[in-house]
Amino acid sequence: MTQDQLKKATAEAALQYILPHLTKDMVIGVGTGSTARFFIDALAPYKNEFDGCVSSSEASTEQLKGHGIPVYDLNAIADLRFYIDGADESNKHLHLIKGGGAALTREKIVAAVAREFICIADESKAVNVLGSFPLPVEVIPMARSHVGRELVKLGGDPAYREGVVTDNGNLILDVWNLQILDPVALEQQINSIVGVVANGLFASRPADVLLLGTEDGVKTYTAL
Ligand code: A5P
Repeated sequence: MTQDQLKKATAEAALQYILPHLTKDMVIGVGTGSTARFFIDALAPYKNEFDGCVSSSEASTEQLKGHGIPVYDLNAIADLRFYIDGADESNKHLHLIKGGGAALTREKIVAAVAREFICIADESKAVNVLGSFPLPVEVIPMARSHVGRELVKLGGDPAYREGVVTDNGNLILDVWNLQILDPVALEQQINSIVGVVANGLFASRPADVLLLGTEDGVKTYTAL
């Protein structure tokens, strides 16, 4: 199977996972990226079975609206039963690296609100140690050099993602060559650098469930 076929199968498994729980007043959190795109397409035929969505990016909002699915401001939502999103890497604790699509801050906010975060990914994303994928960090533009120097002190090699402005008007530094042995601690350390908006480690709030698309079918994992 191609990587896209694995992503699509995983997105469809996420739909099957949530379908029995849908209610007419339910609002669903949806993420960003190619796997999330497959999920939105899979969800669309069921749009009359739930109320609407909150979205982690302008791109996903546009796709949802294109399907005629209402998109709500997160501030208006008291209860978010599910959040479904992709990842760039996952370890067995379901600590993730996210942000390849530069939407990490909004993804983190929606994940924080959700009762259950279902991560959907193809098997290439499963790793023993996080860090082969460069860790995205969203940074206030005037702090770029300062944050870069601080990230070097933490052992990383930050690279400015040329030409990318986040939905929040900030920039992204991708941090290479990190071997992330303690994701919870590193997440906090990076967050404490002045000028950092958020970083792509989802460890303090990991996924609750990982649906991993493999050649042998979609496998379901919960955190070890
Ligand atoms: C978006 O900012 C990311 O966090 C995505 O969820 C992540 O990059 C996974 O993307 P794909 O589903 O396209 O692999």
